[in-house]
Amino acid sequence: MKGKKSCILVVDDEPGIREILSIMLESEGYTIELAESYDQAVDIIGSKNVDVVISDIMMPTTDGIELLRSIKRINPDIPVILITAYASLNSAVEALRLGAFDYITKPFQVDQVKFSILRALDMKNLRQENRLLKRKITDFEGLESFVGVSKEIKNIKEFVRRIAPTDCTVLITGDSGTGKEIIARAIHKLSSRANGPFVSINCAALPETLLESELFGYMKGAFTGANKNKEGLFAVAEGGTFFLDEVGETSPAIQAKLLRILETFEFVPLGATAPIKVDIRLVAATNMKLKDMVDNKDFRTDLYYRLNVINIHIPPLSERSEDIIPISKSILEKIAFQKNEPSKELSEEVTKLLTRSVWEGNVRELENTLERAVILCTDSVIQTSHLPQQISKLSLKGETADFYDVPIMHSNNVLPLEEIEKAYIYWALANSSWNKSHVAEKLGIDLSTLYRKIERFGLKDIMPKKK
Ligand SMILES: Nc1ncnc2c1ncn2[C@@H]1O[C@H](COP(=O)(O)OP(=O)(O)OP(=O)(O)O)[C@@H](O)[C@H]1O
Ligand SMILES: [Mg+2]
Repeated sequence: MKGKKSCILVVDDEPGIREILSIMLESEGYTIELAESYDQAVDIIGSKNVDVVISDIMMPTTDGIELLRSIKRINPDIPVILITAYASLNSAVEALRLGAFDYITKPFQVDQVKFSILRALDMKNLRQENRLLKRKITDFEGLESFVGVSKEIKNIKEFVRRIAPTDCTVLITGDSGTGKEIIARAIHKLSSRANGPFVSINCAALPETLLESELFGYMKGAFTGANKNKEGLFAVAEGGTFFLDEVGETSPAIQAKLLRILETFEFVPLGATAPIKVDIRLVAATNMKLKDMVDNKDFRTDLYYRLNVINIHIPPLSERSEDIIPISKSILEKIAFQKNEPSKELSEEVTKLLTRSVWEGNVRELENTLERAVILCTDSVIQTSHLPQQISKLSLKGETADFYDVPIMHSNNVLPLEEIEKAYIYWALANSSWNKSHVAEKLGIDLSTLYRKIERFGLKDIMPKKK
């Protein structure tokens, strides 16, 4: 059965609710973890493999919204279902805006909880599959995935084609998200080593000792805990290309060892006596100003010159804005391919806004923006309202109408329209000091229609009594 071994963390300060949920979910075959406070919940999330969190919003010291925020930081892939009393509809809206997967109002039906958890698990699995698929796609791509029409991109592509077949060491520089990894992979694919391995390591992601043992490997007994030989990644890359990402983050000790590899193509695993010879091509990347680091003695001069035999610099997206739309289109096609659906188009206004926007996170930020827009866009054309506010706001300078950040759409979860309408009207009222005529005007409906909706959704009872 689906979700048999999935782990559900139940967070509630009321023992009764914890008990009901745990009995019910255990009978469904889930593993249950229980927490009665924010602190306990965060501990469990940090130490166990939790698949779904179901938490009460109202808790004495730190509430469920704060817990949701923390989970989004610790592991954004864990879906969070919040339980709320009807009277706190406002926080339910806030919860969805912050990325809660779903919310359930008290008193809840057992089936409602079961169903919500099943859907949350489905979504989590789908995301994981997507990520795997995405990784597979990039694995097979060469230079064609490095999109752009600017002179700069054309020159880089031509240069890469020329230098890839040589065995020269390459240093790729450029701000974060400019495509350094794509270029590194393309160099490998276009070289005579294409059928050999492409091994990459992010030097910033590991502490020094771990990075050292990953890169060079060790012999059994080299240190406490080394109970068998471990092959270093440099050996794994034999016959292929080694990609040293974020090379600017390496310690002096590692820099010295890297220099030796580049000079002799030899290295000594920890605890070994004889060096190992390797046949690899080295490609390194950094978003730091390596030359400045050399001048400040933070990076070895000799290593810098060994790495910088050939330099490929990728300029930031803001310096080549003519690339923004072609790259956006290719990203949309990639998303469509992954989702097995037709590619979405960009409205005229969105095209203008994307071109005008600054993109400090370069293509990665553009990619995230478009992924979000595709989720929010239910028809075939991406509109301004599907863009994050800081981008859509660019149009507000007297050009177009207001932007409503529709809170519910921040989750991947499809809710009945009625619920969205109810929550949205409540939210609009709460954000307009409960001024009904103001809200009716903003929503583009008659005041009498707004009154009818307030009546029908029972909002009157939970609104402050004024105006
Ligand atoms: N010219 C481009 N055309 C299409 N996609 C691109 C282009 N440049 C970058 N991307 C995409 O943007 C994302 C970021 O690229 P990549 O990981 O290569 O950047 P990076 O320079 O290595 O960033 P960081 O320094 O943060 O590691 C990837 O998903 C990549 O596919
Ligand atoms: Mg990178």
